[in-house]
Amino acid sequence: MNRMLMTALIAGVIGFAGTAQAAGDAAAGQAKATTCAMCHGPAGLGTTVGPKIAGLDSARFIQALKDFASGKRDNALMKVQVGPLVEADYANLAAYFATLK
Ligand code: HEC
Repeated sequence: MNRMLMTALIAGVIGFAGTAQAAGDAAAGQAKATTCAMCHGPAGLGTTVGPKIAGLDSARFIQALKDFASGKRDNALMKVQVGPLVEADYANLAAYFATLK
């Protein structure tokens, strides 16, 4: 990823923080995140199975979950994970993991 795009993404996250309530409920996200720890680690820092998802840009996080659900991003492990989730969960999980570093 090039540097300018990265800067734009970070600026987006900071912009998002101001509207965190509307964007997603981090506490609700945390309640849904227990199974995620199995592969992404208890603080979302990643394990040998799953990549680091802590601090991920919310928009990118939500898009990733949508893409796993639709099969656009083909990953059997994540497909199972997003199965029981609804779209509100995506935003809440994104808000929660964005609070982790
Ligand atoms: C069984 C293991 C496993 C569990 C449990 C799991 N994941 Fe994942 N996750 C993965 C793997 C493996 C990838 C990498 C897939 C790829 O890149 O194709 C991934 C990728 C992701 C990504 C994309 C990261 C990026 O940088 O693009 C997000 C977001 C994510 N997971 C969120 C979650 C959430 C939220 C949960 C809990 C609801 C969860 N995962 C539970 C294995 C898991």
